[in-house]
Amino acid sequence: MSGLCIIGLQWGDEAKGKLVDLLTAKQEVVVRYQGGANAGHTVVVGDQTYKLHHIPSGILNAEVLNVITGGVVLNPPTMLDEIQSLTDRDIQVKRNLKISDRAHVVMPWHLAEDRALDQATQGDNNIGTTLRGIGPCYRDKVGRSYAIRLGDLYRPEFPERVREIVEVKQRVLVGIGDESEIASLNADEIIRQYQGYAEQLKDLVCDTNTLLLDAAEAGKKLLFEGAQGALLDIDHGTFPFVTSSNSSGLGVCAGSGVPPRWIDKVIGVAKCYSTRVGGGPFPTELHDEVGQNIRDVGKEYGTTTGRPRRCGWFDAVAVRYTSRLSGIDTLAMMMLDVLSCVDEINICTAYDIGGTVVKEFPSHAEDLKVVKPIYETLPGWKVDITEVRNYEDLPQQARDYLDRVSELVGRPVEIVSVGPDRAQTMFREL
Ligand code: GDP
Ligand code: IMO
Ligand code: MG
Repeated sequence: MSGLCIIGLQWGDEAKGKLVDLLTAKQEVVVRYQGGANAGHTVVVGDQTYKLHHIPSGILNAEVLNVITGGVVLNPPTMLDEIQSLTDRDIQVKRNLKISDRAHVVMPWHLAEDRALDQATQGDNNIGTTLRGIGPCYRDKVGRSYAIRLGDLYRPEFPERVREIVEVKQRVLVGIGDESEIASLNADEIIRQYQGYAEQLKDLVCDTNTLLLDAAEAGKKLLFEGAQGALLDIDHGTFPFVTSSNSSGLGVCAGSGVPPRWIDKVIGVAKCYSTRVGGGPFPTELHDEVGQNIRDVGKEYGTTTGRPRRCGWFDAVAVRYTSRLSGIDTLAMMMLDVLSCVDEINICTAYDIGGTVVKEFPSHAEDLKVVKPIYETLPGWKVDITEVRNYEDLPQQARDYLDRVSELVGRPVEIVSVGPDRAQTMFREL
């Protein structure tokens, strides 16, 4: 029996996709259990790059079943495009993919609401969402009355339900004040389109709760692929600048429908520095040429939206918090090669809040906005490490850096990544 979880420990884009693809070789089922097409997971295999939004990053391994559970919010046209583009590249998708009939559907009004709300809240309060309808879809799920699940698309009452909801949503959108969005919502057109999508997806849709419980009870190896990162967790992240699901390790069971008894290892994934896309506090953010250098060398531009990622130093206060919260056993430290570009490296070891030294991660975004990071400075190594394949062959400064990170976070470093390719990864015996 084995349930392995891969959880991002920062604000997303920690290279979870690379790690999931790599670890999939020893797994039987890969599970995406929260988030939706806001995720952008990159997998590089030789000269091929795959960008996955909905489909689990295990899909490149033909021996593995990939499952999207009821905790995910699903956008059918995006899903179909993704299936098509992978199929065009000779990846076996349909045979290896199952989608929960409990997954909530991102409908056109969710996309319209996300855009309208984004426009209505500019400036410091703007979350800077991916505009994929994630927040509005999860809001309707929790609100219940106007939600549509994938299984609903196949039912006779679906057309009537869409008509009722469109009527309500048009009134909501008038409230937010975007008339062009309102005009574009046509119930009959939506019914026709979504019944068409449902038809195309129908062989993939099933009760994934039963499928996964059967697999766990049969002793199969399950890998749970987190989306986003723990600092974006709706309950425990930098609220309100978060996503709308439990993206920390705490979300695995509720999102997947697999209870905690089947989970036996959690790997926390972190970059050797920090990035964030969108709004919200970021204590170690760099606004100078060092930050720009990290962005350029790390190619830090969003996989989903193409937006430049905000870059900064590694924040051990934040990652210690999310490591404990997510119950991680070991750390996977990614993008170590990017830090070859800097002379000296800072690690944030504590925050100064109005003269008081704080080592715990504050719960309020307003407090996080004003904290001053307290740094420890370590020497850089300034040599190319992208060809290093054994941990012992890394420069001493790089190993010292990882040791210090491990000490501050309180977990051992098991995996180190020095480039996007599968081969650019080192595993340590612990
Ligand atoms: P995810 O959302 O957590 O899967 O991460 P993204 O795919 O959004 O962003 C990670 C980016 O870093 C991708 O472009 C990867 O190909 C790339 N990448 C992964 N590991 C490394 C690494 O160790 N070094 C470098 N330079 N790039 C990496
Ligand atoms: P992966 O899985 C980085 C961010 C958005 C925004 C906030 C809310 O690739 O790591 P949303 O559209 O979810 O309502 O946006 O969350 N965000 C991500 N940032 N990586 C992601 O996913 C993200 N998914 C959402 O930029 O700040
Ligand atoms: Mg990403």
